[in-house]
Amino acid sequence: MMDAQTIIKRIMELKEEKNAVILAHNYERGEIQDVADFTGDSLGLSRQAMDQEADVIVFCGVHFMAESASILSPEKTVLLPEIYAGCPMASMVTAQALYAEKKKYPDAAVVCYVNSTADVKAQSDICCTSANAVEVVNSMDEENILFVPDKNLADFVSRYSKKNIIPWDGYCPTHNQILVTDIIKARKDHPDAEVLAHPECRREVIDLADKVFSTTGMVEYAKRAGEEFIIATEVGILHKLKKDNPKKRFYNVSNYAVCPEMKAIDLESLLLSLENMQHVITVDKDTRIKARLSLDRMLEVKRYR
Ligand code: 13P
Ligand code: SF4
Repeated sequence: MMDAQTIIKRIMELKEEKNAVILAHNYERGEIQDVADFTGDSLGLSRQAMDQEADVIVFCGVHFMAESASILSPEKTVLLPEIYAGCPMASMVTAQALYAEKKKYPDAAVVCYVNSTADVKAQSDICCTSANAVEVVNSMDEENILFVPDKNLADFVSRYSKKNIIPWDGYCPTHNQILVTDIIKARKDHPDAEVLAHPECRREVIDLADKVFSTTGMVEYAKRAGEEFIIATEVGILHKLKKDNPKKRFYNVSNYAVCPEMKAIDLESLLLSLENMQHVITVDKDTRIKARLSLDRMLEVKRYR
């Protein structure tokens, strides 16, 4: 068994050797974020990957994120160190189920959160992220919007849109289990802190927050404002927030807001991934071209954030 420093040294050597770049989502383990070349949200990272000269992208995140990287950079080898790291919310909608639902609403546009499989993206008219969902929905010509898979994000968007939003019945188990009682307790414990919530949270939790942001939005806001924050999203982001702002204070809204899938990758599996070039994530050409169209349409909507 190698110690952490030896593993990190070997990861860095292999990265050079294979001309690889390591990307880590803001929810990954701290030690993974620390060895990554870039940290960020899923789509931001995939776009970052597009701009890199690297031959290999090691995506420390979940399956749909590696798929997005492969859709945007099909000429690069995209590796996901833990093949079983998936997103339970993305699994709540399949391309077949979406196809059936689209038949019920033939005049609706399908807006799909990037937290979805490539097959679902391919069946959608446009993608959105948690940061631009309102702008994307409002940019559509259609009045009826079938929004998949996150019902909480759909509900959040409905507050800022006159469109008729038909939500899919999906949700992120990690964000959905953040409760009003958690916010009340955290506010009592830290009365001077601002509450920043992710739009994957329930409506009643969002109602108690001071600000609602994607993970990148939280990272940027914490840099430019305030001193003390209660963070209502997956706990992994506290690593980055604390690292970027060593003088500020950050508190988890709940110690249970943990996504096990985002904790699957550790230093050993990252090393094995580079050593054995595993696990290669590809998307078949037909699906890739259609899914890419949905992503490109989103990128054409002015305010990407
Ligand atoms: P963002 O990083 O895009 O805000 O997404 C949150 C999330 O749940 C990713 O799995
Ligand atoms: Fe999916 Fe939620 Fe985990 Fe993100 S935090 S990967 S949305 S289950």
